[in-house]
Amino acid sequence: MEMHKAASSKGVAVRINLAFLVFVSVTSLALLVLCSTALINKNAASLAWCTWNDCRAMKVEEGVLNNIMRESRTEKERKRSFFESLRIADKRIGLVNIGKNESVELGIDEASTVVEFERVPDNLKWTDLFPSYIDEESGRSACPEIPMPVFSAYEEMDVVVAKVPCQSPNPGWYRDVFRLQVHLVAANLVVRKARRDGWGTAKVALVSECEPMRELFRCDDLVAREGEWWMYQVQVDKLAEKVSLPWGSCKTALQLPEGGVNGESNISSLASVTSPGQRREAFATIIHSSEKYVCGAVMLAHCLRSTGSAGDRDLVLLHDDSISRPKLQALAAAGWTLRRIERIHNPRARPGAYNEYNFSKFRLWQLTEYDKIVFIDTDILILRSLDHLFRLPQISAVHDSGVLFNSGVMVIEPSNCTFGALVAHVEDTVSYNGGDQGFLNEMFAWWHRLPKRLNFFKMAWHSTAEKRERLDRLFAADPPELHGIHYFGFKPWTCYRDYDCNWDAEFMHKYANDEGHRLWWRRYDEIEEGLRWVCGLTAEHVYILEARRKRAEKMGFSDGHWKMNITDNRKQNLIAE
Ligand SMILES: *[C@@H]1O[C@H](CO)[C@@H](O)[C@H](O)[C@H]1NC(C)=O
Ligand SMILES: *[C@@H]1O[C@H](CO)[C@@H](O)[C@H](O)[C@H]1NC(C)=O
Ligand SMILES: *[C@@H]1O[C@H](CO)[C@@H](O)[C@H](O)[C@H]1NC(C)=O
Ligand SMILES: *[C@@H]1O[C@H](CO)[C@@H](O)[C@H](O)[C@H]1NC(C)=O
Ligand SMILES: *[C@@H]1O[C@H](CO)[C@@H](O)[C@H](O)[C@H]1NC(C)=O
Repeated sequence: MEMHKAASSKGVAVRINLAFLVFVSVTSLALLVLCSTALINKNAASLAWCTWNDCRAMKVEEGVLNNIMRESRTEKERKRSFFESLRIADKRIGLVNIGKNESVELGIDEASTVVEFERVPDNLKWTDLFPSYIDEESGRSACPEIPMPVFSAYEEMDVVVAKVPCQSPNPGWYRDVFRLQVHLVAANLVVRKARRDGWGTAKVALVSECEPMRELFRCDDLVAREGEWWMYQVQVDKLAEKVSLPWGSCKTALQLPEGGVNGESNISSLASVTSPGQRREAFATIIHSSEKYVCGAVMLAHCLRSTGSAGDRDLVLLHDDSISRPKLQALAAAGWTLRRIERIHNPRARPGAYNEYNFSKFRLWQLTEYDKIVFIDTDILILRSLDHLFRLPQISAVHDSGVLFNSGVMVIEPSNCTFGALVAHVEDTVSYNGGDQGFLNEMFAWWHRLPKRLNFFKMAWHSTAEKRERLDRLFAADPPELHGIHYFGFKPWTCYRDYDCNWDAEFMHKYANDEGHRLWWRRYDEIEEGLRWVCGLTAEHVYILEARRKRAEKMGFSDGHWKMNITDNRKQNLIAE
């Protein structure tokens, strides 16, 4: 690499290849003008370069060409500030995963300090950090050790430069424990330094062929990108929040009190640097493509308010044009602030498939007037406060299966560039289930585990009567022990009130549970009478329910629910299509 000698700099400097810079600057001009101003003009001294894909996404999303003229005029200025931000003159540099010999090759002065740490053993796998099962209730779960440097030996670092390993394009390359370790070492150095200096921001340069972990280093903080060099001006409080959490989902990020009935959750171990008054927080949900979930959303608003979770926070509902005006009015009356969106198409979904527009959830990241969003699916019943979730960072969620989280309840941090990145990766990312959950798990492989009780799956285990009884006890508990119940299978409002219609179809039996069903309907009685009609049945739906009951009778299911006489008066008071 040809090097540009900084003439009179006594201190250490990161130098970049000037010729290359000029080349990149020129060829990037075309890309730059396509980038949204939001991405570029974060502040006068910063400059973010977007990848081709990001640019395309931004162009599609924002229609940004109106600023071309202004962009061109300041291009020269931006080039200069880019160069300035990479030259870290007179700064002490800590090198992470970069040997002395390599630092010269990378263009970093020899006077920098190599941060020593033991590399994680090769046999430590992502599945050790993200195990399927942990004992959440006792709090005795533990994470495998990821070696860290002796931080006290590196207190004088002004800038951290880390070389991040990249196994791309191997499938799942981002579930690489060593890659995580390097990120964590860099992040911890930055946070420790900033804690001494009174927070603010700090510089980190990552050398990586692949995009660094967006879970730790936010694209909002990316001030310059030059080939393999990624320069971040890190907002340290946000990073501190993340490094204060367990290494992976091997331990819950939050410990609910024993038994879960009384007392507050233990959040004392979490870093908290924003005062309550400064926080901009909201609960959010989304309904699109059909009106099937309107009833669930009305119930959700009711629950968030009645459990005191909502407080003075906004409840934001994203919706598309498939929701009729009277139903929108009911949703608003229930407490939702309505936000109309354009759906986002999933290019891999079959036309007309149930998950064709599931990527619309990405729109949550566009709610940038909030710092944090707790997203909740409309088929979740909230029984206890979810207040404490706002203390956790993106993405906090409950475990689903394998190394994956469930996207039914998620803590997310809105950000235009994150939204852009999600949209940009739609084509090249394979979602295991073709839906948003699979996709988001690839984009945020490093996530934080919430206790199951916050998003408890209504799913019956047939294995033992004992387990079934335990489930019934949990659902029936008064005061409630669960914070949220995720109604898998046929939703309660799509059954008659009399019994859980998951009993009527064999492939749904695993979701059938009468206590859970009764619980939902008890809450229904609390909904304002003027809003209940949105949970009504249509003639077509009754036809389907009756057909399923007949089939269950013919199959002679031993649970015998199909024998029950229906008393639900919604069967008589049908609503229009
Ligand atoms: C730097 O030194 C290490 C060991 O001392 C060696 O393994 C590595 O290949 C060297 N790298 C370069 C770029 O010379
Ligand atoms: C909360 O967590 C902290 C640190 O993990 C611990 O020291 C403290 O005893 C816990 N408090 C309660 C009430 O469990
Ligand atoms: C994100 O983009 C929207 C739409 O372009 C804009 O109104 C908003 O101010 C942006 N938010 C931030 C934090 O830049
Ligand atoms: C897609 O969205 C629908 C409707 O919101 C939901 O029922 C379904 O579970 C989602 N599918 C996936 C695979 O995420
Ligand atoms: C249902 O109603 C019919 C007649 O209305 C009655 O004969 C039958 O016993 C009832 N079944 C149950 C399970 O209550």
